[in-house]
Amino acid sequence: MNILVTGGAGYIGSHTCVEAIKAGHAVTVFDNLCNASAESLNRVAAITGTRPDFIQADLLDRAAVKAAFDAKAYDAVIHFAGLKAVGESVAKPWEYYNNNIVGSLNLFAEMRDHGVFNLVFSSSATVYGNPEKVPLAEGAPLSALNPYGRTKLWIEDMLRDMAAAEPRWHIVLLRYFNPVGAHESGLIGEDPGGIPNNLMPYITQVAVGRLKELSIFGDDYPTRDGTCIRDYIHVCDLAEGHLCALASLDKLQGCTPVNLGTGNGFTVLELVRSFEKAVGRPLPRRIAPRRPGDAVASYADATRAAALLGWKAKRGIDAICRDAWNWQSKNPRGYRP
Ligand code: NAD
Ligand code: UFG
Repeated sequence: MNILVTGGAGYIGSHTCVEAIKAGHAVTVFDNLCNASAESLNRVAAITGTRPDFIQADLLDRAAVKAAFDAKAYDAVIHFAGLKAVGESVAKPWEYYNNNIVGSLNLFAEMRDHGVFNLVFSSSATVYGNPEKVPLAEGAPLSALNPYGRTKLWIEDMLRDMAAAEPRWHIVLLRYFNPVGAHESGLIGEDPGGIPNNLMPYITQVAVGRLKELSIFGDDYPTRDGTCIRDYIHVCDLAEGHLCALASLDKLQGCTPVNLGTGNGFTVLELVRSFEKAVGRPLPRRIAPRRPGDAVASYADATRAAALLGWKAKRGIDAICRDAWNWQSKNPRGYRP
């Protein structure tokens, strides 16, 4: 297939480019590099032996989006491009609504105008809000707790409406749980700008000495060790899930939400200890107050992904920690030289 990958230079996008190229697809990346480095695409080329075509442009630039579709006939689009930091979205809501909603509207309009109706969209378990019960199946109630979450929910709603009005659409909404880890080569991985908000990049940066100490946000939750539970999924499993979604698009009419998670929850302390085992030493860490807005537990019911996409996560917590550490220790400053 000829695939356009928006946000393909980013963390999940670059890993998905690797899997897509390995599967024999022709990949074009559309990315404005606002949260990525072109070096990630050099690394994709080093891993696969094939360099994806690259359009450096902004989804907010409608003419550039049109030009991308004028230049090539795509069979499908994987849409990763978006801003993703929850805290930043609270501080800069307009930027999040503009970038994520308007950018997506431009993309969907040009897809429609060019007769491209196959789409895999990066949604998030954030659309389940603060879960009433776990595991979370796709039919669980949807809500949003912050502007970032609202952009995901609203884009999902837009796509549901578009698919209802125009039967030619084949759309899979992939709701990721907590993507972590890195490609086993150690050539590509997560490289957040500034101080990381998420647990795994914080841990890896403490381990490599870029940050002093890990704060564990709360140890008085009603869980087995008092820390919150999440469904950590290896980014390569996640990338493979996109390939399974692409392969299943034909048989999936309309707009189908699918969880991408392992179905297993780990506590913060379990993840930290597993990472310490991979590094071979304890990390400087302390218990800090709860982080406002955190759900006690969130993990997937991954049944639908197996049934509809034939996909199941294969890699466990040990592989996740080994690969995350391999990436960070080989690239202590990420993609910066
Ligand atoms: P990322 O920031 O590494 O990748 C996003 C990419 O999109 C970046 O390369 C960025 O430069 C690009 N981009 C952003 N706005 C753009 C625009 N207007 N035009 C062109 N390019 C633009 O993030 P990621 O972790 O790889 O996430 C990919 C997608 O998955 C995002 O939509 C994110 O919301 C979603 N998601 C991520 C997580 C997570 O924890 N990483 C969890 C759930 C969902
Ligand atoms: N945590 C710490 N210390 C840190 C960072 C995080 O203890 O320095 C804890 C959090 O309190 C939470 C757990 O680690 O209990 C996981 O936190 P993350 O920030 O890594 O992940 P979240 O589950 O809070 O959020 C992530 C994405 C969201 C997405 C959500 C659901 O950041 O964008 O998963 O997919 F919406």
